[in-house]
Amino acid sequence: MKILVTGASGNVGSYVVKELLNMDEIVVAGGTKTQKLINKFGSKVEAVLFDFTDETTFDNALKDVDRVFLMRPPHLGKPEDLYPFIDAMKRHNIKLVSFLSLMGVENNTIPPHHKIEKYIEKMDISYAHVRPGFFMQNISGVHSVEIREKDEIFIPAGKSKTSFIDAKDIGLSVATLLHEHVKYKNTAHTITGPHALDYYQVAETLSKVTGRKITYTKPGFLKYRRYYINKRGLDKTYVNVTVALYFMTRMGTAKDVTNEFYKLTGKKPQTLEEFARDNLQSFVK
Ligand SMILES: NC(=O)c1ccc[n+]([C@@H]2O[C@H](COP(=O)([O-])OP(=O)(O)OC[C@H]3O[C@@H](n4cnc5c(N)ncnc54)[C@H](OP(=O)(O)O)[C@@H]3O)[C@@H](O)[C@H]2O)c1
Repeated sequence: MKILVTGASGNVGSYVVKELLNMDEIVVAGGTKTQKLINKFGSKVEAVLFDFTDETTFDNALKDVDRVFLMRPPHLGKPEDLYPFIDAMKRHNIKLVSFLSLMGVENNTIPPHHKIEKYIEKMDISYAHVRPGFFMQNISGVHSVEIREKDEIFIPAGKSKTSFIDAKDIGLSVATLLHEHVKYKNTAHTITGPHALDYYQVAETLSKVTGRKITYTKPGFLKYRRYYINKRGLDKTYVNVTVALYFMTRMGTAKDVTNEFYKLTGKKPQTLEEFARDNLQSFVK
């Protein structure tokens, strides 16, 4: 039987695919842009059209599939957006779903991930929830523009600490859970990177790796929101969600460090410095 990877072109999904192939699993890679998947993975996977908002794509994506990596595309803000597909997984007798959730949602009902976890459990589908900390890819991705162009980290996280994790390590964790699905039935895993760092320490690390003086400017929420919506032109809903997440971060919700990644994989998680060196091209002008 096969494993369906949703969001297969995304930060985490692309590593889930890679690690599952290393484990000799047969992978169905799902997304709304199949050509992107073909360009990325070639003939190593079966690329299928899959859209959470189009139920007619579900049966084909789940054909001969018995395990699923489930992720919520960031622009689908309502948990209910994922329910029709979770219902379809139930109909297809999926043996294990590994859902990309979020650190701390077991005690926080506000992020959509909380209700999605609960819905999977209510539908009585075997699960292995993955609750990661913030991705290092946020720094090399959406926040890299100001680092490259102005030598600034422009994130409203105050003095709070974050136990950043590399999406690559999340991918390996998810692949392990899906590959060893019997062992990990009905479990939840909070996985983090090795250190909790504030953004002054992130700036120090990036300065060391790039050889330039990178500064953390510690903007307030309003300034950040205005800049990201008006200057960067990012979607308002997306920016509002990030404001809420950075508010929670300031409350200390992103700082816990766990050894769950080591327990699952026997490996040490990537440090931010190693990540910055591997992704140097994201930070150079
Ligand atoms: N960033 C963080 O620090 C962090 C921390 C913890 C949890 N998370 C959670 O991680 C998730 C995001 O994961 P990611 O960063 O790996 O995603 P990502 O890189 O933003 O990729 C989004 C994926 O969703 C697919 N997609 C978009 N619209 C779709 C639709 N209508 N139906 C099906 N697929 C669709 C896209 O593929 P196509 O373009 O081919 O459709 C793409 O592969 C979010 O739920 C977020 O809350 C993030």
